[in-house]
Amino acid sequence: METVFIDVTALEPRMKHPVIFTAFDDIAEGTAVVIHNDHDPKPLYYQLLGERGNCFSWTYLLNGPEVWEVEIKKNSRTAETVGEMAAKDMRKAELLKRLGIDFCCGGKRSLEQACDEKGLDVLRVRQQLEEEDKKPAAGSQPDFTSFKPAFLADYIVNVHHAYVYQNAPLIEELSQKVAAHHGAGLPFLHQVAQKTSELVSELLTHLKKEEAVLFPAIRLLETEGKAVFASLKEPIYMMERDHDIAGELTREIRTLTSDYTVPEDACNSLRMLYHKLAAFESDLLQHIHLENNILFPKALAMAK
Ligand SMILES: [Fe+2]
Ligand SMILES: [Fe+2]
Repeated sequence: METVFIDVTALEPRMKHPVIFTAFDDIAEGTAVVIHNDHDPKPLYYQLLGERGNCFSWTYLLNGPEVWEVEIKKNSRTAETVGEMAAKDMRKAELLKRLGIDFCCGGKRSLEQACDEKGLDVLRVRQQLEEEDKKPAAGSQPDFTSFKPAFLADYIVNVHHAYVYQNAPLIEELSQKVAAHHGAGLPFLHQVAQKTSELVSELLTHLKKEEAVLFPAIRLLETEGKAVFASLKEPIYMMERDHDIAGELTREIRTLTSDYTVPEDACNSLRMLYHKLAAFESDLLQHIHLENNILFPKALAMAK
């Protein structure tokens, strides 16, 4: 389908937006409406975003001072998942994290589904995501999407697996100590200790599987073109299931601790436990995000 050209200056004022909306609704995905105007049609941008959602791109072909021409292209509806969104742009990942949208274990959902589950207004969230585009790119984080799979696997082992090995036993011990001392007055601390032990045990087994089986297979495929598995889909699926279990345990700990809100008059050990649990969750979410949303898709693409 051809691009539709609309000279907005030739239309009656009350017909301008309806004509543009109808033309936009009628065009196929991947094609565009170009509007010609004698002033900046920015208000239309917000109206279109509000009523049709983030399903178009907006490009100025001419940007004043006397003539404005904008290409409004209809995007493909194959909705980007929140995991893909977070993988591409750390600024968006940070925003999703602040909004409590899980893009790690729950990364394969569309933004609509994720917002629905959290009771968030998807249009408002889309606007916030667009705002992130205007901010400077996050400078402190490497561009993980540019890493080759073997290098990313090495990075994950050296940064995130090392973090788990260093912190998990300490957190488990601390949670048991705190439960023993304060469990009578705060009985949920026994559950926190139990869930923390389960999480630590799950993770330590999981990391070994990645380090002994999946990651070496990815390295071998990349460096020597040798396939250890007929397909990487099955081992990756198993790792993703492990991530779901770890994600669920983390959510349970978060709920038990009321989002890591330290009770009044808490002792230093309890404060330390909450602080360490929150930091552990944060590292784990980034760890799972790098695997589910970047490493695994890259490895699967390479295996093809
Ligand atoms: Fe891992
Ligand atoms: Fe993992």
